[in-house]
Amino acid sequence: MAALFGRDLLSLADLTSSELHELLELATQLKSQKLKLQCHQVLGLLFSKASTRTRVSFTVAMYQLGGQVIDLHPNVTQVSRGEPIQDTARVLDRYLDVLAIRTFAQQELEIFANYAKIPVINALTDLEHPCQVLADLLTIQEKFGSLAGLTLTYVGDGNNVANSLMLGCALAGMNVRIAFPSGYAPDAEVVEKARNIANHQTEVILTHDPEAATKGAHVLYTDVWASMGQEAEAGDRFPVFQPYQISQQLLSLADPEAIVLHCLPAHRGEEITNEVIEGSQSKVWDQAENRLHAQKALLASILGAK
Ligand code: CP
Ligand code: NVA
Repeated sequence: MAALFGRDLLSLADLTSSELHELLELATQLKSQKLKLQCHQVLGLLFSKASTRTRVSFTVAMYQLGGQVIDLHPNVTQVSRGEPIQDTARVLDRYLDVLAIRTFAQQELEIFANYAKIPVINALTDLEHPCQVLADLLTIQEKFGSLAGLTLTYVGDGNNVANSLMLGCALAGMNVRIAFPSGYAPDAEVVEKARNIANHQTEVILTHDPEAATKGAHVLYTDVWASMGQEAEAGDRFPVFQPYQISQQLLSLADPEAIVLHCLPAHRGEEITNEVIEGSQSKVWDQAENRLHAQKALLASILGAK
């Protein structure tokens, strides 16, 4: 149970395949309420970007584990007035039991983790969104019974969510195809890591052809065309991304049993049509709920809840 005790989760590549499967199993047991765990510790949330799901699901997960949460918005801390990350990390380390950080540069998260001895969790950076993908895999496992051998196609920007999906699918024994417009590729180092994890047993395919990528896929996934921090580029991006919209027509190329996922927030009429996100194949609300169960399992494992 205490597989991740005391560990950071900065990237999904921090997990082995068996640790990922154990976490998903723990999340399933916690969700079904067959297992109840308590930890009574304190989680700090330090989020430099907006959040609905991540903030609330981490908070509720910690409350359900009997712990407490302090929402340390940077604007109300000395971080906003330039206190060095190294100093902030060493001080928060003395008060908190675990810290979840949402920020821009992955390097900032790594500095926090280096200076704080307590576990640090990536609650989204520009590079990765590992907690999201834990919930995504839980949702896919619930629908299909197991993960190995399934194909997930992500259509859109090669962003943080795409990067973590490549790692998560490779760890889970799934094939992953990323279809993106030229100039918006996922991170090259993450692609290499995912291919190393997949080790020629499963595919990690990058393509500019959304139709070819969608053919026969079990999961069709998208995310916003301009992530937080890229809002000024949105106008330039939209015409380039238009052929990468998930529409009913694109979905019809996927496996007939395929499900549609979106990490949310969604922009209907941009990366996904209203018809698809509100349609019968969309599992986005189950996916959003699973943020709670997956993160509760993660916290319980890291904190050694009993
Ligand atoms: N999907 C996700 O991380 O949502 P929030 O930005 O609302 O936390
Ligand atoms: N790629 C999006 C995900 C939001 C949950 C962003 O970083 O804004």
